[in-house]
Amino acid sequence: MVLALRLLLCVAACCFLSLPTVSAGCQSKWKQLRGDITEYKLITVLKVPKITDCLMKSSVAEAHAASFDAESGDCALLQCDRGGRDACRKCRHEKDASLPMLWIKDPSETCWRTFQHRVDGSVSFNRNWSEYASGFGQGESLNYWMGLEQLHQLTATGVWRVRWEFSDWNDNWYWAENAPFS
Ligand SMILES: *[C@@H]1O[C@H](CO)[C@@H](O)[C@H](O)[C@H]1NC(C)=O
Repeated sequence: MVLALRLLLCVAACCFLSLPTVSAGCQSKWKQLRGDITEYKLITVLKVPKITDCLMKSSVAEAHAASFDAESGDCALLQCDRGGRDACRKCRHEKDASLPMLWIKDPSETCWRTFQHRVDGSVSFNRNWSEYASGFGQGESLNYWMGLEQLHQLTATGVWRVRWEFSDWNDNWYWAENAPFS
């Protein structure tokens, strides 16, 4: 039984990152971006004095992301749990002030755009053609349909991949990717 349907698109040139970068370890660059920690698997939590130590340890452990609490010194090393390091990089997370800042290792310049998202039954998807053309819902983080016109404009140029993510009632996650998509 599918509880949530999350369809994502990788956009070729969105989300230009202007946040500070920290280098730690073998050339890796870490950027602070908002992320959904529930999409990551916790590798381990270490006690370290400073953020640079945390990122150094994270580089050695080949973590995809890290979170650091300066007060407690807790450095959590994280690995994306959605099938590949870039799968956790969703544009909607970066705009969501309710999510924590994570340190992301070597983030690509792109993030996944969400064109459909279903998290519960509070928005009906049983709609007519003009609503499907123009879009509806509560925004990318909740129940959402981008709209066929916007989807068409978004994918009219560039090379795209489409990504499908599903979870069941037991919170098991499934995903697949298709490319090219237009
Ligand atoms: C589609 O549904 C909307 C919202 O219920 C309604 O305002 C609109 O008139 C409908 N359009 C057509 C073509 O049926």
